[in-house]
Amino acid sequence: SNVAAHLMEGKIELVGTRPEALLKGEGAVIQWKGERAGAYKDENGELHVLDTTCTHMGCEVEWNSAEHSWDCPCHGSRFSFDGEVMEGPAKKPLKKIAYSDTDEVRHIPY
Ligand code: FES
Repeated sequence: SNVAAHLMEGKIELVGTRPEALLKGEGAVIQWKGERAGAYKDENGELHVLDTTCTHMGCEVEWNSAEHSWDCPCHGSRFSFDGEVMEGPAKKPLKKIAYSDTDEVRHIPY
């Protein structure tokens, strides 16, 4: 697709990259069916895809590659790679997304 347009939108040049391309132990924010999503490939090669909307008040969590967690910048909630609450104030896990590798997925900027 149009590289210049993607750059203008601030998109990193990973369009077409699929979560399958993640290395084991690596996570990333991706775009899934037009929505921001979080993907993590565990040590067994299994993909965990989550809605990155924090269950506290709706901020977008970011991948913490040092801790392998999804961290919320707003009030400090932290979630495990599969979305379980590690630290509040959030009380509910991140929503899991049923991922199918037949659909288009691409990375979006942090
Ligand atoms: Fe994420 Fe408050 S919105 S911790």
